[in-house]
Amino acid sequence: MVHAILFLIVLVTQVSAYPVCPKCGKTKVPHPLSTDENCGDPRYRIYCNDGVLEFMSVQALYYKILKINPKTKKLVIKPPSIEEDTCYSSDLYQGGLMLDESLPFNISTRNTVMLFNCSDNILLSPLNCSSSSFCREFEEFGEGCGCKGTLCCHYLKDSSMTSHRIRVRVGGCTAYTSVVNKQADDSIESWNFGIELQWLPPF
Ligand SMILES: *[C@@H]1O[C@H](CO)[C@@H](O)[C@H](O)[C@H]1NC(C)=O
Ligand SMILES: *[C@@H]1O[C@H](CO)[C@@H](O)[C@H](O)[C@H]1NC(C)=O
Ligand SMILES: *[C@@H]1O[C@H](CO)[C@@H](O)[C@H](O)[C@H]1NC(C)=O
Repeated sequence: MVHAILFLIVLVTQVSAYPVCPKCGKTKVPHPLSTDENCGDPRYRIYCNDGVLEFMSVQALYYKILKINPKTKKLVIKPPSIEEDTCYSSDLYQGGLMLDESLPFNISTRNTVMLFNCSDNILLSPLNCSSSSFCREFEEFGEGCGCKGTLCCHYLKDSSMTSHRIRVRVGGCTAYTSVVNKQADDSIESWNFGIELQWLPPF
């Protein structure tokens, strides 16, 4: 009984302390995500820019949010575009995607990251740069065309790699993309392009 009452008090204070944010365009902004300091939990800051929800990296670059799943505490952001006729990610000169480590977000382990136009010296790291790597399929396709014929690699973003960063740089690899929950044999038409992030529970 005492527990039930305490639980209710906690619930009520939580709800009143953190009103859910209004929709951004047509997209719901589930708790604890916050588009404004007066709603949600301000530690879980995302941005509503002209009706489009976006996530901001530590270098202050915005990535469009494609999907949010409050049950699994995950959201998917759009990988940066690759500039036409080159093999440069739009965030190359900022070093790729970097999350603020003081914020409660990290990169989930369900991303298959593909790196393009890599220099040979990165072959030492735990990457699959073989001729059967999935990245070979991407270079045949739309945006990836500028990367055709370059050295490319893929890896599963698991805990052995940093969970706050996907790194690109001139002289390393200059472009990347990512596929969420890629299955071994699925064809490129069914790839779910995105970078999945997860957030820590608020308490
Ligand atoms: C690289 O990835 C491909 C595609 O999944 C796989 O067939 C191959 O065995 C992998 N090679 C290495 C060295 O892990
Ligand atoms: C690949 O990267 C190098 C620098 O590391 C750059 O000079 C070259 O233009 C890049 N290739 C393409 C196709 O963008
Ligand atoms: C990323 O966040 C999840 C919880 O949302 C946590 O379980 C996991 O340990 C974190 N990973 C790292 C490497 O910090």
